[in-house]
Amino acid sequence: MIFRSATKEYLPITGMAEFNKLSAQLVFGADSPAIKENRVTTVQCLAGCGSLRTGADFLAKHYHQHTVYLSQPTYGNHPNFFLAAGLTLKTYRYYDPITRGLDFQGMLDDLGSAPSGAIVLFQVCSHNPTGVDPTLHQWEQIRQLVRSKGLLPFFDNAYQGIVSGSLDMDVQSVRMFVTDGGECLVAHSYSKIMGLYGERVGALSIVCKTADVASRVESQLKLVIRPIYSNPPIHGAAIVTAILKDREMFDEWTVELKAMINRIIHLRQQLLDALRDRGTPGDWSHITKQVGMYTFSGLNAEQVAFMAEEYHIYMSSDGRINMAGLSAKTVPYLADAIHSAVTRNV
Ligand SMILES: Cc1ncc(COP(=O)(O)O)c(C=O)c1O
Repeated sequence: MIFRSATKEYLPITGMAEFNKLSAQLVFGADSPAIKENRVTTVQCLAGCGSLRTGADFLAKHYHQHTVYLSQPTYGNHPNFFLAAGLTLKTYRYYDPITRGLDFQGMLDDLGSAPSGAIVLFQVCSHNPTGVDPTLHQWEQIRQLVRSKGLLPFFDNAYQGIVSGSLDMDVQSVRMFVTDGGECLVAHSYSKIMGLYGERVGALSIVCKTADVASRVESQLKLVIRPIYSNPPIHGAAIVTAILKDREMFDEWTVELKAMINRIIHLRQQLLDALRDRGTPGDWSHITKQVGMYTFSGLNAEQVAFMAEEYHIYMSSDGRINMAGLSAKTVPYLADAIHSAVTRNV
């Protein structure tokens, strides 16, 4: 296996070439015309965060529009990457607290009034923190709007496979945007999907309109990376490469990924049933409607604090539950705590 015989030499500035190639194929598809036409440049970066920051720095240096639209709400670190790069932040409506689902019309209206060329950050799937993703039909409408207004899509792909258990299904949104021949950026992360959090392994892909632009983008990316960390770490990328290029290991990984997702889906149903059994006031159907790793429970900060104090159950103050932290054994205890937090405040 590659990592048994790995050296500890420096990698090139753009990382491990084989890792970059396999990462691009994982997102865009092995038969992607954009890859075959050499229109995609992929550089290994320090996990999802490092890829987002590298992309933000690149855009600040070379892109004409400096306004970035983020979903409201979004992953807490998102604003930091773009602010640190000197870009200006705006938000687009995303989550509807009444339905605990997507505010699709609000999203279209806000993106529709964005200035031409603005950068828009999308989460590919398993939206953090809401667990709410657009349907494929909605993605298609978003794509048409983005392209008609000349907006620049930047995809954060931290959870590919974690919604449906299928790596291909979960990344359809990105592939739609690539099939139309337009530009986009993608930040890949292996933290969640391979459990390689501490290895800091990920990549940034920039899909261009021509091979010539892609090669010029790559040389400019080197100039962004070189003064920050010079070149990325070797070990995590070697692990990922070993898995992606070996059919047997790849299949084993996807089976494990699917088992993980099925467990989460099952837990969602168990939690919903437990709350219904207790007659907990409110409509909790969003627990099974939301997808991926997170449930945006709808609990308020006071209820969250009560659960931490009285039950020693900890979640972010916005009420986000990381479903991966639950088990069939702990569901009843969580349901008791939610029931007591909710009935106490009614
Ligand atoms: C939406 C999103 N993007 C990016 C990241 C960063 O992940 P990484 O550990 O790969 O830097 C996270 C981590 O929670 C996330 O939720």
